[in-house]
Amino acid sequence: MNQPHTGRQTKDGIRIHDPSDFAGMHAAGKLAATILDEIAAHVYPGQTTAEIDRLIEEKVNAAGAKSATIGYKGYQHASCISVNHVVCHGIPGDKKLKDGDIINIDVTVIVDGWFGDTSRMYVAGKLSRKAERLIQITHDSLMIGIEAVKPGNTFGDIGNAIQTFVEGQRMSVVTDFCGHGLGRVFHAPPNVLHYGRPGTGATLEPGMFFTIEPMVNLGRAETKTLADDWTAVTRDKSLSAQFEHSIGVTENGYEIFTLSPAGKFHPTY
Ligand code: MF3
Ligand code: CO
Ligand code: CO
Repeated sequence: MNQPHTGRQTKDGIRIHDPSDFAGMHAAGKLAATILDEIAAHVYPGQTTAEIDRLIEEKVNAAGAKSATIGYKGYQHASCISVNHVVCHGIPGDKKLKDGDIINIDVTVIVDGWFGDTSRMYVAGKLSRKAERLIQITHDSLMIGIEAVKPGNTFGDIGNAIQTFVEGQRMSVVTDFCGHGLGRVFHAPPNVLHYGRPGTGATLEPGMFFTIEPMVNLGRAETKTLADDWTAVTRDKSLSAQFEHSIGVTENGYEIFTLSPAGKFHPTY
């Protein structure tokens, strides 16, 4: 029997949202994805990540929305911009992008109280063959993880699908950071690991909202956080890539809240 999923939380503290809550998440996700679409034209050699962030903040404000990251645990920017061997949480700054740099831009907005969180990869100038392969595999690992999202599967099934695929390509999945539940809050249970064993972890139910956001390294998985307390880099200085979608579990599978309206989620090739 179908039960309405109303105001409930699982024993693992995972909120089960109402069917009517999907609309709010679609609106928030669409704005975040639209901003990532529009920012693509502003990523080129010589550009600074601070200017990209300024443009993102301007777009969030122009939409009448709020940035979820400004003021979050002391973070002061509307985006995280992670270049080359930066794994995540790169702080926008005055350094200029160089030809061949690969860049993750991660934006989280709040629209009518709902959080939309997404990131994707960009390139400044010409993409090298090895970076192209890293970006392709990382993108595909996210989509393979999403394919495992349906009621009855577990979070371990998602992580296992991602890890098995990435390691089969002789690349590494970062284990120091994970995806997360979200909704009317930024970071909620569960931790969505991008590795794991099939059948482990909480079981997926309709009405769960969470991100999947695998970080993949060309070298080893280990990361370290710099003295600024945010910037996470690969310990071996190898290139790292990441893609992130916010999704919701439906009766039959999933809906992606952060689909690119312009069809530009996947990089420019
Ligand atoms: N958007 C990031 C995520 O995917 C979180 C960034 S928090 C910040 O969860 F403070 F670094 F912006
Ligand atoms: Co996230
Ligand atoms: Co994010």
